[in-house]
Amino acid sequence: SGLIVAMDGPSGSGKSSASRGVARALGLRYLDTGAMYRALTWWMLQLEVDLGDPAAIAARAGEPMLEMNTDPDFPGVTLDGTRVDGPIRYPEVTRAVSAVSAVPEVRRRLVALQRELIEAALKEGGIVVEGRDIGTVVAPQAPVKVYLTASEEARATRRSAELAGTTVAAQRVELARRDTLDSTRKADPLAMAADAVELDTTALTLDEVVAEVLRLVKE
Ligand code: C5P
Repeated sequence: SGLIVAMDGPSGSGKSSASRGVARALGLRYLDTGAMYRALTWWMLQLEVDLGDPAAIAARAGEPMLEMNTDPDFPGVTLDGTRVDGPIRYPEVTRAVSAVSAVPEVRRRLVALQRELIEAALKEGGIVVEGRDIGTVVAPQAPVKVYLTASEEARATRRSAELAGTTVAAQRVELARRDTLDSTRKADPLAMAADAVELDTTALTLDEVVAEVLRLVKE
């Protein structure tokens, strides 16, 4: 009975702010699936799991307890009882996350958890879910699917504004590296669903992006 809005796209496309804005405007829950991959990555870095070894990653993928707060005003990630919202944005996590998210056992666990959170939210009206594979794998039944894009320059500029101590040029290199890894992996590669609406946010403000998604929801 509830609504699912799938918001996919590469990093820096403006997914997070737009997804939260849409969830707030519609009174829906909000799920950041990238934060889940980041949380497992942070945990594995703490334990010094060899991230060059997919079998080592797979062996530990089921271990930490992972809880997500889906309130768009206070989204949060809790690992074994500890909030990790800050650490999951550290550059070392960003650099390592593609290796962890490429492992099928990791994806199997997190996709299952994402579907549970979606089921629960549907009883309360619905949810806006952001990620890379929401419209294709996690919730292909979503009636509204948006694929956000932006020019490389715009994405790098947004990322460097969010992060201290980095340059647009450095972010450009980092985004290109992560896009390649995310879109060429075997399991659930970053790709646009056939029935998604592509929205180029390069020249749009956040309010304009939110308004456009709300228009798609009303259609
Ligand atoms: O969106 P964010 O940049 O936080 O995502 C971090 C990483 O998590 C991505 O680079 C990708 O490797 C992975 N990811 C994924 N599937 C999702 C969301 C994120 O593989 N649905």
